[in-house]
Amino acid sequence: MMVTAAENKKLCEVGSGTPMGAVMRRYWMPFALSSDLPEPDCRPIRIRLFGENLVAFRNSDGQVGLLEEMCMHRGVSLALGRVEDNGIRCLYHGWKFGADGTIQETPNHCDARFKARMKAPAYKTHEAGGMLWAYLGPQDRVPPFRHFAFIDVPDSHRTIFRVVQRCNYLQLVEQGSDSSHVGILHSDNARPGWLEKTFTPSADTMNPAAFAVEDNAPAMELEDTEYGFQYVAFRQSDRVDGKFDETRERHARVYPFLMPTIRFIPAPKVLFTVFEVPMDDTTTATFFVIHGEQPVDRGHLKRLLGLNDPRYWSDEDNEFRANWSNGMGQDRDKMKVHWTGLPGVAFEDAVMGVAAGSIADRTREHLVAADVSVARVRKLLLGAADDVAAGHDARGANYADCTDLAAFDTLVAPGVDWRSLIPFGATARQQGEVANAASVD
Ligand code: FES
Ligand SMILES: [Fe+2]
Repeated sequence: MMVTAAENKKLCEVGSGTPMGAVMRRYWMPFALSSDLPEPDCRPIRIRLFGENLVAFRNSDGQVGLLEEMCMHRGVSLALGRVEDNGIRCLYHGWKFGADGTIQETPNHCDARFKARMKAPAYKTHEAGGMLWAYLGPQDRVPPFRHFAFIDVPDSHRTIFRVVQRCNYLQLVEQGSDSSHVGILHSDNARPGWLEKTFTPSADTMNPAAFAVEDNAPAMELEDTEYGFQYVAFRQSDRVDGKFDETRERHARVYPFLMPTIRFIPAPKVLFTVFEVPMDDTTTATFFVIHGEQPVDRGHLKRLLGLNDPRYWSDEDNEFRANWSNGMGQDRDKMKVHWTGLPGVAFEDAVMGVAAGSIADRTREHLVAADVSVARVRKLLLGAADDVAAGHDARGANYADCTDLAAFDTLVAPGVDWRSLIPFGATARQQGEVANAASVD
């Protein structure tokens, strides 16, 4: 799929009134962690979401409000306000608002009818799975809240990293659905022994890049589903001229892409559910939600992801700080024994996102067969923009039960259809459209 400059703009811009902004606003999106607002009446937080400046606060009852940051009276930031008596009060003239935007008090204006007639711009919120979620779309199209498997586990079995990167969301979404980079960019995690050419599968049960076979040119098959699309990436060791030995089983990584920006990454003992949340056109918050059936070791995951160096990322502000002024955090000496010279999997991904520039120029690229899923992401997003413009819902917006959606690695015996191995999306598959690896349009 050739992308024109106009299409690239349409794909990447998420502000109010833009086609993709309208798509993004049709889904519930996480915007912060529950722990960012740790208790009732705590300090409010400034939020940037889809190019809008918002303020989030937790009222005395524990409910989370999400309002336009600038006070509706004369436009001072409510993030400086007092949070008290089930509302947030602007410091300037004391106007006070409830979590739903109701005007509770206007001390410098005594007309009660004014209060009753007006409302501060506010958005719907929901709290689940250790995260705060918002819906910014039209009020007559509120989709059901989505249920994910990670919501149902105890807090000890789940950990979340939020990484704020200075680049457009789409280059991160594309990367997340791109299977062929995994075995190359993440060589040290995916193919331990690559340097000595002695492939040894990773023994780390939380390692999302671990592959059981060495094969860097996966053959992809994919199909559209009700929630987005799903693909399988086939790998087999010792292929000759890229041809599969049809008498042997293939290794398969099955991957569902959930509209509009959500992916799942399998590791033996945990599942990563990853949300790319556009804060504005050139800033993206990636939420890595990692859960399992046992308590998860946050420290271990932090090292694996490469988020353990406070120069480049910290729990304080979640800002990813590798950029050209600090050499992207790359250790060139280390590259003698390490593929990237970068600290870990998420760090490597983030650098690839940022190093493509704030908004990647897609008019000059050269897609190959392995990029079929990247092309499909674009096609579905552009399709959703057309659907929303025509007055329909965006694909997958009403797909609420996501508890079964998971990526997984499996072996496919000769003659077996990979679709028969998928435990989710059975009805969606029937309407599916199948593409093969040869087509990237
Ligand atoms: S600007 Fe907020 S009350 Fe006046
Ligand atoms: Fe990656």
